[in-house]
Amino acid sequence: MRSITRFIAVLLCLRTAASDSNAICELKDVPGNSNDWIVLQEKSLGCWTDFTSLNGTEVHILKLLSSPEKHTMLELNVTVANPSVVIITSSSAQTILLQDNPTVNIYVTYGTSITFYLPTRGSPQTHVAPFTNSDSELLKWAAETFGGVTSFTTARDPMAITFTGMKGTQQPSTCDLQPEIAADKQFIELKLTPPPDELKSCYTKHSGEPIHVINIPDDVKIRHVYVHLPSKSKVVLRGPANTEWTIHDNHEVKLLYNNPVTLNGMKLPPRKTISDDPREIRQTVLFYYNSTSITSYSEIRLNVSHIQLWIRDNTDSSVPAEVKPTTPAPSSSLVPLQMQLFSSPDYMLPLDPSSKVQSDKRVYAEISSQSFGEFPLSIKVSSCQVRSMAVVRDMLFKEEACYIKDCPKRLSFSFKMLQDQPSSSWDLECAVKLCYESVKFCTNETQVKRNFQVKPYIPNQNPCFEFGLSAVLGIAFGGFLIGVLLTGALWFIKIRTGHPVALGMRSTAAELSVLSISGCPCGLTKRQPVPTHPSPSENSSANASIGSTQSTPTSSMA
Ligand SMILES: *[C@@H]1O[C@H](CO)[C@@H](O)[C@H](O)[C@H]1NC(C)=O
Ligand SMILES: *[C@@H]1O[C@H](CO)[C@@H](O)[C@H](O)[C@H]1NC(C)=O
Ligand SMILES: *[C@@H]1O[C@H](CO)[C@@H](O)[C@H](O)[C@H]1NC(C)=O
Ligand SMILES: *[C@@H]1O[C@H](CO)[C@@H](O)[C@H](O)[C@H]1NC(C)=O
Ligand SMILES: *[C@@H]1O[C@H](CO)[C@@H](O)[C@H](O)[C@H]1NC(C)=O
Repeated sequence: MRSITRFIAVLLCLRTAASDSNAICELKDVPGNSNDWIVLQEKSLGCWTDFTSLNGTEVHILKLLSSPEKHTMLELNVTVANPSVVIITSSSAQTILLQDNPTVNIYVTYGTSITFYLPTRGSPQTHVAPFTNSDSELLKWAAETFGGVTSFTTARDPMAITFTGMKGTQQPSTCDLQPEIAADKQFIELKLTPPPDELKSCYTKHSGEPIHVINIPDDVKIRHVYVHLPSKSKVVLRGPANTEWTIHDNHEVKLLYNNPVTLNGMKLPPRKTISDDPREIRQTVLFYYNSTSITSYSEIRLNVSHIQLWIRDNTDSSVPAEVKPTTPAPSSSLVPLQMQLFSSPDYMLPLDPSSKVQSDKRVYAEISSQSFGEFPLSIKVSSCQVRSMAVVRDMLFKEEACYIKDCPKRLSFSFKMLQDQPSSSWDLECAVKLCYESVKFCTNETQVKRNFQVKPYIPNQNPCFEFGLSAVLGIAFGGFLIGVLLTGALWFIKIRTGHPVALGMRSTAAELSVLSISGCPCGLTKRQPVPTHPSPSENSSANASIGSTQSTPTSSMA
């Protein structure tokens, strides 16, 4: 047995040694940098605002980048553009076929070599913008000259750029460059030279938790990678030194990485040195995750500074393959937090949102967050408030002990202070921080909120004692016993004397029923239902026993 295993191991070694980059699986080009399980996009620097100058002119800056081997003519179509100033700068010589528009003024930065053609007549009139060393200098010049900047767009190897005449809808007043997907700008349509196949990938379907490996070989100069990962997966991020990874949509992922990673605004230092050799990666990954297979392996050779990457589990049928991912809306709170309420300190049964909490009862709350696999997380609560319409009150809380592993935060509250408030619907809101103890990092405070209904506590003014089930049964049984004893006594008297004593017996039965049913104004018929779970069997059994109490003496009388 052992020798067979060794033989297989040797065979495997030979195989992996023979095919280097196919050490993990058979790598294939990903046409268009997009398929079912992976999408790769370049992010370029740009910005846009809703700026228009006083006379209604928009100000757009185009920065053209071209790879030396791809020198084609660019078609620039501004026929339906709003009145604009279009400033063009380019890293290399360009030829532009212009579909023009008299309300659009074209500026070209000094030193940029651009030859314009108009389809019908010679060349258009253009203006000169000063030479600038950097994008920010150009932005500054445009803002000073025209009063503001509507957009800045970087286009790599464009074939056609069309202004659609739509208005920019971004709110900021200044155009601050940031990595963006140029396709998100609806007022400019970019047709770029199809990206060369700079992504190779393979995917093997298998059961169990998937492991996705992304490798950027050391000769590729990517600096920033924005990744969107499937939840519940194990991921390996490997890149050249100076690569930074930013993980979006914080799902539950386990991570292994050799570069700094930013997760939920928290910067994590590199974990482990990993070479870019697929064979070494394979070994490291299988050992690290104690696994026998890798779900997907991808190699990226797109040589640009910012890229965006989506990895999807193609087993996840809820994501149609054709749907192009769009840039997610920025959200203020990245971390999904939730708060559950419980009526008892055992934290077993959560209160459902519609059930009412009695204001004199203590309420137990549990605040939890998704954890990130290997990063143990603790939740720190700084303050809590309750609010209902205009009323806002600070809410004192007590931390509850918790002994389970990976325990969420447990608190308890008393809502007594809401006793005299007219409103019954309240929001309980706590300011919390998430802390990753292992890297000594806490997020900024974020709010976690939960609505609850409160029911004022009405102290029992009634002098009568409450009839519980045991009281009812006790009375019923007592009545039965008295009945049996009386019947026995009467029977005894009848045998001894020969005279029935019917009258006395009837009055006893009447007294009995008065005592058990209507003796108090708060009798059984008016009994309050049990607050949490009124049980129908309880009432019916009580009725049944009353029935038998009454019938026993009467029937025995006949
Ligand atoms: C220029 O763009 C407009 C709007 O998209 C379009 O209607 C027109 O056909 C384009 N012109 C050329 C020559 O492609
Ligand atoms: C509007 O202002 C811009 C920049 O100040 C100028 O280039 C353009 O000619 C003006 N347009 C009109 C119609 O006055
Ligand atoms: C990537 O681009 C940089 C400059 O932008 C260049 O120095 C480097 O050789 C390129 N690498 C590859 C693999 O093309
Ligand atoms: C936390 O808050 C500070 C100050 O309000 C802000 O500068 C910083 O960017 C915030 N950090 C995160 C991760 O949101
Ligand atoms: C590794 O996985 C195997 C089987 O999947 C399991 O028996 C073993 O205990 C695991 N080892 C560790 C260190 O977790």
